[in-house]
Amino acid sequence: MTQRDTSGTQRSCEEPSVYTPRRYLMCPPAYFAVTYSINPWMDPAKPVDLPLAVAQWESLRDTYRALGHTVEELVPDPELPDMVYAANGALVVDGRVLGARFAHPERAREAAVHREWYRERGFTEVREPEHVNEGEGDFAVTASWLLAGRGFRSSPLSHPEAQEFFGRPVVGLDLVDPRFYHLDTALCVLDDTRDDAVMYYPQAFSPGSRAVLARLFPDAITAGEDDARAFGLNAVSDGRHVLLPQAAVGLFEPLRERGYEPIGVDLGELLKGGGSVKCCTAELRG
Ligand code: ARG
Repeated sequence: MTQRDTSGTQRSCEEPSVYTPRRYLMCPPAYFAVTYSINPWMDPAKPVDLPLAVAQWESLRDTYRALGHTVEELVPDPELPDMVYAANGALVVDGRVLGARFAHPERAREAAVHREWYRERGFTEVREPEHVNEGEGDFAVTASWLLAGRGFRSSPLSHPEAQEFFGRPVVGLDLVDPRFYHLDTALCVLDDTRDDAVMYYPQAFSPGSRAVLARLFPDAITAGEDDARAFGLNAVSDGRHVLLPQAAVGLFEPLRERGYEPIGVDLGELLKGGGSVKCCTAELRG
């Protein structure tokens, strides 16, 4: 580990970034299946190889643990095949938990399972939200802001609700491509101790939101269509290691140039439900 660069400039490749141990919540895909379609990736006619999905998921979990992170596990429910996408269940910042409210009835019951888990774990500030929000699917956390997606799932009304609950300014971003229906399919925060380290796919956003992103993140890594379609933005960073789908080959070099260590993983079976690394990983902050 090296000392953090506080000068505000981008790191160079000789300067590996620091990382901090994280606490993640994941849900084993024991009952994962594509039985309905609520995003363009889901095709119930395409078979899922469940043992392979489980092996891929376990390898992601074990990689986190090998890096020194803590992974907690939710008990899967046989009637909730999308529960493996644990990032959608809540947003946790400073130990405060904003529960989810799902846009589609197929996933509605997941919200209570997550809230219950947090209450049992001793989190005292657990809010049942008024407005539809799909947790970390549409909220990303930088050092001082919440970036918040809208357009397909989370209601724009969930943004002021989150701002009020967390006391952090919310930057609303309009998603316009149905393939990138959650913010975390189109943008990833690479270092949450700063406000300027993200990678994203510009075409997933409206022209105005693209201009906002360019203004806030002039040094961002911008992904091309192929890497976005490989779910390369659906990545998890601990500040140094960036776990991302290995098929997103175009992102590895730009990440290395900025001092990150990209780690490719294969979650091909989970992609059939419209999710990858980040979707499977909720972060418990504070
Ligand atoms: N099948 C799930 C859905 O459409 C996938 C969720 C992916 N999760 C995410 N954080 N993007 O809701």
